Amino acid sequence: MAQRIDVKDLNIFYSDFLAVEDVSMAIEPKSVTAFIGPSGCGKSTFLRTLNRMHEVIPGARVEGTVAMEGVDLYGDDVDPVAVRRQVGMVFQRPNPFPTMSIEENVLAGVRLVNKKISKSDAADLVEESLRHANLWEEVKDRLAKPGSGLSGGQQQRLCIARAIAVRPQVLLMDEPCSALDPISTLAIEDLITELKQDYTICIVTHNMQQAARVSDRTGFFNIAGTGKPGKLIEMDDTGVMFSSPSEQATEDYISGRFG
Ligand SMILES: Nc1ncnc2c1ncn2[C@@H]1O[C@H](COP(=O)(O)OP(=O)(O)OP(=O)(O)O)[C@@H](O)[C@H]1O
Ligand SMILES: [Mg+2]
Repeated sequence: MAQRIDVKDLNIFYSDFLAVEDVSMAIEPKSVTAFIGPSGCGKSTFLRTLNRMHEVIPGARVEGTVAMEGVDLYGDDVDPVAVRRQVGMVFQRPNPFPTMSIEENVLAGVRLVNKKISKSDAADLVEESLRHANLWEEVKDRLAKPGSGLSGGQQQRLCIARAIAVRPQVLLMDEPCSALDPISTLAIEDLITELKQDYTICIVTHNMQQAARVSDRTGFFNIAGTGKPGKLIEMDDTGVMFSSPSEQATEDYISGRFG
């Protein structure tokens, strides 16, 4: 299921503003890639280009290529909706649909693409997705209750269940733990480690320990100043990035000297 992504010469714009400049990188399947860097350097912007969510903002566009298993996601004949089905996303704030039950939340994405899913298939998919998201045992007796009645950490796992129910190949997570307590954070980190057996995972985090704990590769983005574009400064195995990075700016950032 997991797919490889190759980004080449990517420039990312909001209208005339070049927000992120000239990114090239390889993202390996069945692994976790972390993106770190100071606020405003373009981590979220970059992440959203990996499933064509960037361009839903009026005036937003890219130059360059993002290829999944060799196929450019920005090719003329590629349907952005299909891309978003293959490349799922989990956001900073858990955002279950508040009026929907837990099970309907899990099925929300699936119902958009498969309106005729049978009751028993739906029930199986709900259980499978919730088990995969390490939430099943906690909610199996209240599947018909609203998703908004769960704790923050449970809601975030519900959002992960919703994202994986459509069976994507890639999962993007933008600071998925920043609104969570330390226990829920560790639960999500364990889940990420399990999910990487099946998915390609990219995670943006401000938490250096988290990047060190969950990721295999880390990319450091930085920005030279306000109004300047963000750039990928360095990317390497996470162990190398946190012990002996090549760039001084990386060293300064991970040791807490700025950002
Ligand atoms: N919708 C938008 N329209 C115009 N500019 C935007 C938009 N979203 C972000 N930007 C700009 O793009 C740049 C990168 O922002 P982005 O949100 O990607 O940074 P980030 O690294 O995710 O920061 P943070 O760590 O604070 O989340 C910033 O200068 C930001 O102001
Ligand atoms: Mg961000």
